[in-house]
Amino acid sequence: MPIFSRFAKYLKPYIGSTLLAVVCALAIAICEMGYIYILADTIDALKLIETRGFEDGSIDVRYFQVEGFFDGIEVSLSGASVALQLVGWVLAGILTLVLIKGIFTYFNDYLMARVGHQLILRVRNELYGKIIFARLGVLREHRTGDLMSRVTDDVRTWQNAVGSTANIIRAVVFIPVFVSMMLVRSFKLTVLALLVFPLLAYLIARFATRIRNTSAEIQQYSADIASQLKETIFGIKIIKSFTAENAERKRFATTNRKQYRIVMRRIRLTSMLPPLIELISAIGIAMVFGLGCWQVIRGELSTGWFIGYVAMISLMFKPIKTIGHFNNVLQQSLASAERIFYVLDFDSEVDEGNKLLKLPIIRGEVEFCNVSFGYHHQPVVKDISFHVDPGEVVALVGPSGSGKTTLLNLLLRFYEMNTGDILIDGYPISKVTLESLRRQIAMVPQDTILFDGTVMENIGYGCPDVTHDAVIEAAVQANAHDFIMQLINGYETPIGESGLKLSGGERQRISIARALLKRPPILVLDEATSALDSESEALIQDSLANLMKGRTTFVIAHRLSTVAHADKILVLDQGQIVESGTHQTLLEKAGLYQKLCQIQLR
Ligand SMILES: Nc1ncnc2c1ncn2[C@@H]1O[C@H](COP(=O)(O)OP(=O)(O)OP(=O)(O)O)[C@@H](O)[C@H]1O
Ligand SMILES: [Mg+2]
Repeated sequence: MPIFSRFAKYLKPYIGSTLLAVVCALAIAICEMGYIYILADTIDALKLIETRGFEDGSIDVRYFQVEGFFDGIEVSLSGASVALQLVGWVLAGILTLVLIKGIFTYFNDYLMARVGHQLILRVRNELYGKIIFARLGVLREHRTGDLMSRVTDDVRTWQNAVGSTANIIRAVVFIPVFVSMMLVRSFKLTVLALLVFPLLAYLIARFATRIRNTSAEIQQYSADIASQLKETIFGIKIIKSFTAENAERKRFATTNRKQYRIVMRRIRLTSMLPPLIELISAIGIAMVFGLGCWQVIRGELSTGWFIGYVAMISLMFKPIKTIGHFNNVLQQSLASAERIFYVLDFDSEVDEGNKLLKLPIIRGEVEFCNVSFGYHHQPVVKDISFHVDPGEVVALVGPSGSGKTTLLNLLLRFYEMNTGDILIDGYPISKVTLESLRRQIAMVPQDTILFDGTVMENIGYGCPDVTHDAVIEAAVQANAHDFIMQLINGYETPIGESGLKLSGGERQRISIARALLKRPPILVLDEATSALDSESEALIQDSLANLMKGRTTFVIAHRLSTVAHADKILVLDQGQIVESGTHQTLLEKAGLYQKLCQIQLR
C-alpha cells in the first residue's frame, strides 16, 4: 500500500487533467445512455403504432422520458407517412450523440495520454538527476544495465498504466451512471444484477498479487538482458578474442528464455481474467433476463425498456472487464514503481549542500590528517597523514592495489573518508560545497573517459564559456594539436562513443588537454601518461612540467622520469605510507622505493 500511495502522489499534479477527463467520461456515459433511450423509446413507440394504428388520432411518442422526473421530448405521429419522420428523428438523434461522444472520447484519450507522457518526462528527469548526483559508492554497487532498464523500461510501464487510465476513467464513471439509470428503470432488476459484483471484486483482487509478483520478476530479467547487452557491446573485443561468442549467446538465450517463461505465466493469468469476468457477468445477465421477462408479462416493464435494460447491463459489464484489464496494467506498474522508487531513494551527494560554505579560490595547500577509509569493511587507506605546500609536486608510488587511486578519490570526495580529515588551505573538505571543491581540482583519471562528441567539445568539457583559442592552446600544451589537425575535420571531428575512434594515447592526450584547460590550483594525474609511448611521453613531460609549475600536483606514475622530479614522493604499501622523501633520499634508504625502482619503475 505505501507503494501505491507513493505512486498516486506522483499523479497529484495532474489532478486537473484527470478531472477534465472525468467530465469527458461523464459526457460519454450520458451519450451512451442516450442510445439506450432512443432504442427503448422507439421500440415502445413502434409497438403503440402496431396496436393502435393512426385511424383514431395521432400518437405521441416521448423520447428521453424518465417517469416521475422528466416528461421527455414529444413527437406527434398522425399518419403512416409521418411515421417515416420517426426514422429521421432517430437518425438525427443518434448522429448527434455519436458526434458529441466522439469529441469527448478524443479529449478523454488525449488528456490521459498527455498525463502519461508528462509523467514519463518528469520521472525520467528525476531518475537521471538521482543517478548523476548519487554517491559513487552507491552507483558502483549497481549494474549499469539494471539502472538503464529502470529509467527506460520501468518508466514506460508507468506511462502505459497512466495512458490507459482514459479507459478506466470511462469505466469508473460508466458504472455509477448506468447503475443509477437502471435503478430508476427497475429497482428489483438492478439489485439482482448487482449481486454478482462482490464476486467480481474478489476475483480481480485475487489476481492482483500474482500478476504483480510475476511483473517484478519480468522487470528483473529485463535488467539482466540490458546488463548483458551493455557488457557485450563494451567488451566485444575480449569476447571475440576469447572466441566466447557462443558461450555469451547461450547465456543471453538462457536469460531471454527465463523471461519468456515468466511472461507466459503472466499472460496465462491476465488472459484468464477476462473470460472469468465474462462468465460471472453472464450469470448476472441471465438472472436479469429471467426476472425481466417476468416483469414484462406482469406489465411492470415495457418491452422496449426490457430490451433497453438488457442492453444496459451488457454495456455495464464491459467497463468491469476494462477494470479487470486495467488491474493487470496497474499491477505491472506497481512492480515497476518499486524499482523506480528504489533509484529515487538513492543517497544524493548534494543533500547537505546548503549547510556548507563555498571554498574560496585556493593556493593549493593540502593536508591529510589521519585519514582512513575502506570501500566496505576492509580498510584500504589506513591512518594517512602528510602535508603538501602550494605548488608542490607529490608523487604517489607503490604496488598495485596499495591504495593510490583511492587516496586521490578521497581528495575529490568521490568517497567519504571514515575517519580523519583533509584540509585544503586549512578548510576541511567535508565542510565545503562539492562544487567549489571540485571546480578547483582537475583530474586525468587512470581510465580515460571521453564522451560522444567532437574533439572541441571533449576538451572544453565542463567549461561552457571557453574560447576556441583556449582549447587549441591546451591541445598544443598537451601535445595533441598535431594529431587533431590530421583528423578529417580537425577539432570538429566526432570521436565516437567513449572516444573509441581514437588510439589509447590520443585519448589520454585529449584528457590531459581537458584538465589543462581548467587551469586548476590542484592537479591530479592518475597514471596520466601510461598509454603514451616513450617519445610522446617525452614530449608531454615538458608541457606537464610547465603545467605543474605553481600548481599543487598529485601524480601517480610508474615511470621514473615523472617520479624522480617530484618534490615529495610518498611510498604506499597496503594503504599505509611506508616511506616518504625525495628521489635521492629514498634511494639512499634502500627500502621499498629502491626495490620498486629496480623492478617496477622504468
Ligand atoms: N570501488 C571499489 N570497491 C571495493 N574495493 C575497491 C574499489 N576500488 C578499489 N578497491 C580496492 O581497494 C584497493 C586499492 O585500490 P586502488 O585502486 O586505490 O589501488 P591503486 O594503488 O591505485 O592500484 P593500481 O596501481 O593498480 O592502480 C584494492 O585492493 C582494490 O581491490
Ligand atoms: Mg590506481
